[in-house]
Amino acid sequence: MKSQIRVCVNVNCCQRGSREVAATLEKAFIADEVEVQASESCFRFCKSGPNVAVNGAILHHLNPSDAEKRVRAALARRIVKKEAIGTRPLDELDAALDEMMNF
Ligand code: FES
Repeated sequence: MKSQIRVCVNVNCCQRGSREVAATLEKAFIADEVEVQASESCFRFCKSGPNVAVNGAILHHLNPSDAEKRVRAALARRIVKKEAIGTRPLDELDAALDEMMNF
């Protein structure tokens, strides 16, 4: 199955540089079996952006200088999760709940 990377380019993430992150990832993974998409849909973690979903697992605070390294590490872990809160790792739940309460 082809891995999927989605970069949130909704308003908040875009203001934090997600379009540059998306461009960096598109170049970095052009030769890989990985699909990189810019997503207009908000991932609901706006204050932690730019946010990138790697096979459904959300990475926060990416920037063009660390995006490729962090995404490759996430791909190596081969974690497949849906974006629902019930499938998030415990260490991400506190941040997710803080985001939701302050949204
Ligand atoms: S704008 Fe990207 S998570 Fe909301």
